[in-house]
This record gives sequence, structure tokens and C-alpha cells, in this order.
Amino acid sequence: MEVAEVATKMAATSLGNPEGRVLRRMTKINKILEDDVANWAGRRVLVGGWVKTGREQGKGSFAFLEVNDGSCLANLQVICDAATYPLAELVPTGTSVLVEGELKPPPEGVKQRIELKVDRVLEVGPVGEKYPLPKTRLTLENLRDFMHLRARTNTISAVARIRDELAHATHAFFRQNGFRYIHTPILTTSDCEGAGEMFQATVLFSQAEKIAKELKENPPPSESDIEAAKLVVKEKGDIVAQLKSTKASKAEITAAVSELNRAKEAVSRLEERYKLKPGIPTNPDGRFVFDSDFFKKPAFLTVSGQLQVETYACAIGSVYTFGPTFRAENSHTSRHLAEFWMVEPEMAFATLEDDMDYAEEYVKFMCQWLLDNSKGDMEFMVKNYDKTAIERLKLVASTPFARVSYTEAVEILMGVTEKKFENKVEWGIDLASEHERYLTEVIFKKPVIVYNYPKGIKAFYMRLNDDQKTVAAMDVLVPKVGELIGGSQREERIDILKQRILDSDLPLEIYEWYLDLRRYGTVKHSGFGLGFERMILFATGLDNIRDVIPFPRYPGRADL
Ligand code: 4AD
Ligand code: MG
Repeated sequence: MEVAEVATKMAATSLGNPEGRVLRRMTKINKILEDDVANWAGRRVLVGGWVKTGREQGKGSFAFLEVNDGSCLANLQVICDAATYPLAELVPTGTSVLVEGELKPPPEGVKQRIELKVDRVLEVGPVGEKYPLPKTRLTLENLRDFMHLRARTNTISAVARIRDELAHATHAFFRQNGFRYIHTPILTTSDCEGAGEMFQATVLFSQAEKIAKELKENPPPSESDIEAAKLVVKEKGDIVAQLKSTKASKAEITAAVSELNRAKEAVSRLEERYKLKPGIPTNPDGRFVFDSDFFKKPAFLTVSGQLQVETYACAIGSVYTFGPTFRAENSHTSRHLAEFWMVEPEMAFATLEDDMDYAEEYVKFMCQWLLDNSKGDMEFMVKNYDKTAIERLKLVASTPFARVSYTEAVEILMGVTEKKFENKVEWGIDLASEHERYLTEVIFKKPVIVYNYPKGIKAFYMRLNDDQKTVAAMDVLVPKVGELIGGSQREERIDILKQRILDSDLPLEIYEWYLDLRRYGTVKHSGFGLGFERMILFATGLDNIRDVIPFPRYPGRADL
């Protein structure tokens, strides 16, 4: 049914609500259930949702439906009489219903707070066959086989609401602090992290397939076909010459010239087709040639919007980007995705110290936001997944983060005797997840910011410290997750930056624009990237990052 039709039907079939207005809008179930019964009892409402469970009662004279509309975890109890609608069509789990009726407080001693006595059923989306999700609770892992239906479960819908709250919190925080939201490109020709873990975006494959198909259906011309076509050109040319020398009429000459042109076009078309080769074009040394690719050069899905957002930081001050990023790393861990969302602020005139201050404030702000706005969903997480989830949010929102230099962190870890790490600790190593989690969960028991990492393990754009050995980098490590944020002060000195690019075996040419930011009005600036899904893991206490993004992508899986 068309939207307009639904609206008309609703208007036509609606009675007045207590304020006398026509009911044209649905009421979200959370508005009813999270409010005082007194504010809603006796009111007429229109509610739309999906039946979680339904049962016929009173020898089939009426049915109880537990309806959920996704606005909150709780269901609204809906009662419908057999006279109003065929009950057997309403009770199957998964059925969608749009119903109208009056809200009534339930009889004394009944668990439900308020229930909806339906007198009109406006829409029903029946469940024809067996509902694919079983009644018994599936593990989150098994639920991943139902990517299109898992949002109908309590856990995944709660995660979706928490994720939405964190996105709003992010925009609220940066807006309050005077940052502008910049949309950086998803397709890029610069490798930000220089780690080479990029997905390539190319039309070469589809082009090659098209050509192969075309050549099969319509074989390419041979050299003799081209020779023959050239002969035709010669003949047509001769005719034109002859007409001219015999002073033929203008009309005759024009007609002959256009025939000549057509013959010439036929030759060039044949020559074009003659050049068509199946497969992807390569150099004699076997490297791919991108001249015929969409952008005429190699392009990739971005691993980070940082480099591009720096151009805006170096023009309008404090900015941030928040979007999807992609990494083709073959990681099968519960902390890595091939497609994840990153929040990346970038501030002009800011040092590493400012960077750490903002990172800490932002994480605290998000924790407080969830405490204020996601009570029901967070209580669900505590009950079902992580008893300490709310406590953790409170702790993080209210306690200063620890800060230690990388060198201090390594010393602390080298002094650990009660645990044997799988990866040996020594100065210069990239801290492994086990080290990061030990620091934040066991040593400090709160978030910890590790700063001044060895330059050898960090990206080329990080500012070289005076010791020439470390860079002004920082990682925020949090319990449950390990690394939540990675950031740094950026190298603003052009000569040092150039050298760092070369030392990282990256080609200078593609970073010329980045160097220009240092050539013209260079400025101290800093920024960081927060892994949005890692923040959700940290907040909810769920174990696997694949369950906190609506459509997870990881090696071997990209459903839908
Ligand atoms: O530490 P990373 O690689 O930093 C950058 O990309 C910088 N350019 C950010 C900046 O300074 N603007 O990534 C930042 C964060 C990590 O701390 C982690 O939380 C998350 O992104 N992350 C991932 N999350 C999920 N799956 C992956 N494969 C991730 N890789 C990084
Ligand atoms: Mg990092």
C-alpha cells in the first residue's frame, strides 16, 4: 500500500485521541512504557511493530500479542478480540501489525504496566511459513547466519540503539567544542597508514570481462580486414579527386567526401578493435597498467580520512571526520573488521598534550552520554553479557586516565613476573594486544594513554621527538578492548617529513600535496582516530566486534 494511502486510511479510520486530534501518527512503544501509566491510560494510540510472541486465549475468543517496535527492549502487550481480526493470522512470531486501540492499565496484580486493547487492525504482514529464527535463543555467532533478521533480536537491536547514541554523542561532543564535521573521501589514491593493507577499487576486471565476452561474440578483425578497409578508403579518395578534377557539381563532391569519411571511420574502428586484447593490460615487466582504469591511476578504499582531513584542519582549525574505513588485513580476531567506522578529529595549533586531553574528554563524554541516554539497553547488557558494563562506564566517565610513556610502559611490562606473555617484551616492539590489556586491566585498572612510541613502528606522519628515536604518538588503551584510539602530533617540518616518507619506502610524488601543507603556512597540528566499533565493544561488554556493526565484513564473509 502506498504511504499516502496508509495515511488516508489511518485518518479515515481514526477516532479522536484525548486532545481531539485525528490519530495519524504512530506512537513509539518506548514513549508509552517509559512514562507514567497515568499519562497514557485511556488514550487512543496507533502502534506498529512485530509480534515477538502471540497466543490465543479464552478458547480462541481473544489473543495476547507481545509487540516490539524497536524503540526499546520492552514489548507492549496488545489484546485483540476474535471479532476484530482472525487471530490465527496475528499470533505467529515475526508477524508485523499496525493496530489502533485504547491503552488500559492491566488488572491489579498483573505484571504488565499498561496494555493496548485493539479495536482496529490496519495492517498485517503475515508469517506464511515457519519463522527462520528459532524460538530458543541462538548464540551471537549463529545469529550471524541471519544477517537480515538479526536486528529483530533483543541484543542486536539494543546494540543498534547504543551505536546510534554514540554517533549522536560524537557529533554533540565535537560541536560543543567548536569542531566542524568534514566528509573525507572513501575512494582515495593516497595510502594514509603506509601499511599497504588497502582494498583496490578498479574497473579493470569488469572491463576485461566485457572485452573477453565481446571478442568471443564478435571476433576481432584480422590484418587483411584492415588492409581491405584501407583499400576502400583509397578508392573513395580517388573518386573524390576525380570529381574535383572534372569540376563535378558541389553536391556530388560533398556526397563523395562524406563516403570517404565514413570509410576512414570504418578503418579506425577496425584498428581500435584490432588492438583489443583479452585480460588485464600489463607492462612488458608484468606490472598492471592503469591508463584504462576509471581514475587512470590506482585507487583504493580509504584506511583513514586523516590525511585529507588535515587539509581542512590547516584551513578551518578544528575539524573531524566520521565515516567507514577499510583494511584488507587478514585478521581473524574479535577486535578487527575489514570495514569499520572511525572518528578522526584533527586540530590546528595543537600538540600531543592537547591531543591526549581531547581523546580523554571525548571518551568520558561518550560514557556519560550512555549513562544518561541508554539506561534500558545498558541494563540489558549488564544482565546478559557483562555485569560490570555500567560500572565501567561510570568509572571511565569520572576518573582521570593514566598516562605513561612507551618506555615506562615497556619497563613496567618487563617487570611483570606473575604472567608470561606470548610475545617477548623489549624496547622497540609494537605492543601486542596481551600487553595493552595487561597494562589497562591489571596494572592501571582504568584507561591508560601510552605516548612517545619508537619511530620504527609508527606511521611516517608522526612528529619526530628531539631524542630522534621516538615520535609524538599516543594510543588510548581501555579494559576489555585494548587499543581504542591511535593518534599523534603530525610532523609539520617539511624536511623531516620528506625523509620519513622516504625512510618508509613510500613514493614522494603522491604525497606532494601533503607536503604542500608544510610548504605553505605550516602549523603544529594533532589528531587521533577512535575505532567506533571498539568503543561499542568497550561500552556493551560484548566479546566480538562482528556483533556491534550492522553488517560485519571480515575475511571470507561479506553478507548482504
Ligand atoms: O591506529 P590507527 O591505525 O590510526 C589511524 O588510522 C590514524 N590515521 C588515526 C588518526 O590519527 N587520525 O586506527 C585508529 C583506530 C584504532 O585505535 C582502532 O581502535 C581502530 O581504529 N581500528 C580498527 N577497528 C576495527 N577493525 C580494524 N581492523 C581496525 N584497525 C584499527
Ligand atoms: Mg593504531
